[in-house]
Amino acid sequence: MKLTELELQTVRREFPAFSQPDQTVFLDNAGGSQVLQCVADRIHTYLLTNSVQLGASYRTSQQAGERVAQARQAVAELINAYDDREVVMGGSTTGLMFLLIQAILPSIQAGDEIIITNTDHEANIGAWKRLQAAGAIIRVWEVNHHSLELELSTLHNLLSTRTKWVAMTHASNVLGTINPVAEVAKLVHTVGARLCVDGVAYAPHRLVDVQASGADIYVFSFYKVFGPHYAVLWGHFDLLSQLSGLNHFFIDAEDLPYKLQPGNVNFELSYGCGGIRDYLVKMGQSFGGAGSARAQMQLAFDRFEAHENALAEQLLSFLRHRPQVRIIGLSEVEQGSYKRVPTISFVVDGKSSESIVRHIDQYGIGIRFGDFYAKHLIHALDLEKHGGVVRVSIAHYNSSDEINRLIQHLSEII
Ligand SMILES: Cc1ncc(COP(=O)(O)O)c(C=O)c1O
Repeated sequence: MKLTELELQTVRREFPAFSQPDQTVFLDNAGGSQVLQCVADRIHTYLLTNSVQLGASYRTSQQAGERVAQARQAVAELINAYDDREVVMGGSTTGLMFLLIQAILPSIQAGDEIIITNTDHEANIGAWKRLQAAGAIIRVWEVNHHSLELELSTLHNLLSTRTKWVAMTHASNVLGTINPVAEVAKLVHTVGARLCVDGVAYAPHRLVDVQASGADIYVFSFYKVFGPHYAVLWGHFDLLSQLSGLNHFFIDAEDLPYKLQPGNVNFELSYGCGGIRDYLVKMGQSFGGAGSARAQMQLAFDRFEAHENALAEQLLSFLRHRPQVRIIGLSEVEQGSYKRVPTISFVVDGKSSESIVRHIDQYGIGIRFGDFYAKHLIHALDLEKHGGVVRVSIAHYNSSDEINRLIQHLSEII
């Protein structure tokens, strides 16, 4: 069920941005979401009361250590990790991917094959290509230009016993399509390869469940999920244990996640991220949920999903009725066996994507154009001639009125 007016107000009260005098309509959420009050409060509290080095025996240092450890447990719960030692934190998804590749590098042999897609953000492409220096061969799983889907049959033809890794996105940050990662994982595992999933564009819209995803590695950024510029990389304990350590020589190879966190984590941001879990549980409770924290979080996301779908359909139906518009992705929230997140991209015949966004800028509505670092996808679909796509990315805190305002101003020019 879509959020009621009252429920939406409850949601928006959690985000200080909505009480600012500058009433920007935030529709660039896939670029970065608004930040929760409880997240900002935790960062503030940590900085003002726990700014000490961890690991000493005095009380404040002990308390700081407990806070950072609790935050890791909260993130483990948020993503349904088996064990909180599987939770590696770092500055960004791009940065964590580079660390992962460094840790994988010694296990790569000449002739090993790695499959990447041409729909991914560069963070989950460029990092893998670096393994070519060790003799790895890169194969590209290309999107079907007509259906805009990554088809399992195409992957099937690329997989072989030489495949060591497959890297893909859970949801494209341009197309918005949710990929069937659990099915992909099964296929990938039949040849003994591993699956690395970029969940950045998915995590703001569905409750991440790394166990159900079937992935071996799952990574996303908190600044898209109502938190700070910070990120998490989850990996199966056995896999992470086998990876080369990236920390000082005296840090034990068994010391997870520390061996993969050179220079250690950012303490205050780690602590801040615990607020995302608290917010979701609080929302689940406010919607009448009961049971475990995961059950509350699931209810929160179920309600957010229904709300986001209604807003997405509002915009998609407007776009579908404009003959000069081409939606780059599913034109409905659900098509066949595929669903989408409310990250909606389109191009307009005879108009540059930039001109549309510049028109909308005047009305205090934040949308965006470009390739969104999914350069291979934009190239494959021949969208450079438009200057990339126009992207409207909705979050659960947006309202139907905001989408109407956008539609009103879009209809002035398309
Ligand atoms: C799908 C996707 N993957 C990866 C990234 C990179 O994340 P980060 O900025 O944390 O490196 C982004 C950023 O926009 C993204 O949208």
